[in-house]
Amino acid sequence: MKPLTLAPIAPERLSDVLRRMPKAELHIHIEGSLEPEMIFALARRNGVELPYASVEALRAAYAFTNLQSFLDIYYAGASVLLKEQDFYDMAWAYLEKAAADHVVHAELFFDPQTHTSRGVDMDTVILGLSRACRDAGQTLGVSASLILCFLRHLSEDDAFATLEQALPLREHFIGVGLDSSEVGHPPEKFARIFKRCGELGLHRVAHAGEEGPPAYIHTALDLLQVERIDHGVQATRDRTLMQRLASQGIALTVCPLSNIKLCVYPDLRSHSLGQLLEAGIAATVNSDDPAYFGGYVNQNFLQTFQALDLQASHAYRLARNSLQASFAAEAAKAAWIERLDDFFESVRA
Ligand code: ADE
Ligand code: ZN
Repeated sequence: MKPLTLAPIAPERLSDVLRRMPKAELHIHIEGSLEPEMIFALARRNGVELPYASVEALRAAYAFTNLQSFLDIYYAGASVLLKEQDFYDMAWAYLEKAAADHVVHAELFFDPQTHTSRGVDMDTVILGLSRACRDAGQTLGVSASLILCFLRHLSEDDAFATLEQALPLREHFIGVGLDSSEVGHPPEKFARIFKRCGELGLHRVAHAGEEGPPAYIHTALDLLQVERIDHGVQATRDRTLMQRLASQGIALTVCPLSNIKLCVYPDLRSHSLGQLLEAGIAATVNSDDPAYFGGYVNQNFLQTFQALDLQASHAYRLARNSLQASFAAEAAKAAWIERLDDFFESVRA
């Protein structure tokens, strides 16, 4: 990684570098990109009644105390999504913002059970999202793919039924993930379904160590055979695990603004991102649920760099990690990394 010797640069210039550097976003729940304005517009379009009087009243409810307090509102917000075009419009709005943030590749999580449990067809969900991903590649220059997430507060049987419904649309998603309420729903609950997904050639990731203990990160790796850990910030509580993540090159998709909004850390200055990088772990920066947590990926970079006093060499490493840890084809990854190297060469000049 040659530009690691980058000299420190002035804050204004660093902000510009963070904004413009090519990057991948690997941890974005597409339902978490649904802005209050769009929730109201879709509610009107579909005749859905919302328990909030206005956009402002809804936004005022975004004062979370933990993961569950957020999830309750997040699932309620998703109730306005009924038609294929709704899923398309939601994903397109995110992908336009991603393009503006110089995201060259995005892997979008989606929660089918949130929709099928309300009577929405799997086809409606996947085909709407997939069409937006395809169009983004053609007209925005953003490569985008889908990762189907199982809700961990539901049963493994429910996950198996969901997989069965999705398999006729297998070409539209590249992998599976595990999200929703973490504590009390450990990775081992989903060992059989992840084994099946591995046999099907699907990529595997899981949320682990967001609120849950470091042990969940170990078991996600051992029992679910995941290739990346989503969040993983609780790893700092386990020195052996830190060494394991670094030596095995396991990427963490860290979401700093999410961690503050969900009270995992009291403020950004207490965030462990710098510590993870220092330990040689392949951390990346992502937005998680940007409409709810106050910023898309570039805001996550800008605010975290300012709070932790990170520098251009960290920016390079984080962007490179994101491209390298993506599930894109090796040739595409190599081309993006070359673009990143050229960009940092121009910063150094
Ligand atoms: N679903 C959407 N956002 C999530 C998060 N931060 N953790 C777990 N499940 C989620
Ligand atoms: Zn998440």
